Amino acid sequence: MSASPVTRRDALLGAGALAAFSCVKPAIAAEQGTLGALAASKGILFGASMSVRELDRPHGAKYAEMYAGEARIITSDIELKASVLRPERGVTNWEPADRFVAFAETHGMRTRGHTLIWNDDLPKWIGGLGQGELGHFMDTHIATVMRRYGKIDIWDVVNEPIAPWDHNEENLRGGAYLNALGEDYIARAFRTARAARASAKLVLNEAQMEPETERAHTFRTSFMALLKRMRDAGAPIDAIGFQAHLRAVDAFDFPAFAAYVSSVADLGYEIHITELDVNDSGVDGSIAERDAKVAKIYGAFLTAMLAVPAVRIVETWQLADATSWLRDPYVVKPKDGVRPDVRPLIYDDRFEKKPAWDAVARAFEAAPIR
Ligand code: XIL
Repeated sequence: MSASPVTRRDALLGAGALAAFSCVKPAIAAEQGTLGALAASKGILFGASMSVRELDRPHGAKYAEMYAGEARIITSDIELKASVLRPERGVTNWEPADRFVAFAETHGMRTRGHTLIWNDDLPKWIGGLGQGELGHFMDTHIATVMRRYGKIDIWDVVNEPIAPWDHNEENLRGGAYLNALGEDYIARAFRTARAARASAKLVLNEAQMEPETERAHTFRTSFMALLKRMRDAGAPIDAIGFQAHLRAVDAFDFPAFAAYVSSVADLGYEIHITELDVNDSGVDGSIAERDAKVAKIYGAFLTAMLAVPAVRIVETWQLADATSWLRDPYVVKPKDGVRPDVRPLIYDDRFEKKPAWDAVARAFEAAPIR
């Protein structure tokens, strides 16, 4: 397993110590009390997914400033997905990912690459490949992308392997990779990634396990069984990503979920919270009441998660409500019952802090050092 994502230097660079190191890139906010600094003081990397297309919008400068002030690590929101990178057979669109890496470099941030292999969000031409062609595409895609972006040292190699609604064996998500290569696509992807960049931290990223629902428990059972089969297959997985797209109307038992996360960590995996947000669709009341409910869930979730020593990265999925994926009508159709004015994040539509920001800060302040 490669070095921990947060070095001792990061921890020392936590609140208050940062200004003493003139070598720290000036773009990293030096003031105490940013979420990045609070988290680093406990040995945790805090950040968020980031979309370079937001830099070109009227709020681009404020968006960049917010990230530069808060995030020590950023994840590519769409730039490294096959739908963007490989829009057509024989066409590779490197420009958005190049900009993503350049932004991180400018601001002295670490980066997570999301995601190399996903049976969702796949361009149709990839889905049309035969078994042999698809295996070759997968191997060359992983190697090419990881070698081009050598500065990205943490990768979501496989995203969302479980999907009970697809009714496949072991509740595996259906799609081109599973259809062509069977479950072995997962271990093969990790072996290929390890061969491409031995020093990179390789992550298996999954969603939908956090609430106290029948579906979440099915996910937990299926995912744990998958992990054990991957260990038996010798798949070089270093860390497990829990997306943590929480819905405020769901029931939760975060201490019980933390016990599940600990049982995953006990298998020898580092834990990353990779896509945290709290969807307040279905929460009635004023904006202040909705924001208070969202903040309470952020605080309770992170308090439980940060009690698990293996949790080393916490990222939200974007930082501000204004750029949340849950606001995208393409992604979340009004029929899905998601209100278009959801307020799932820690900054609002004017890039101002919300009560959820304070709840996250308090959770980092109270977290044990790892
Ligand atoms: C989302 C992006 O944020 C959207 O902009 C895009 O239209 C759809 O995908 N889980 C994941 C992410 O792993 O890749 C998804 O990102 C959100 C759910």
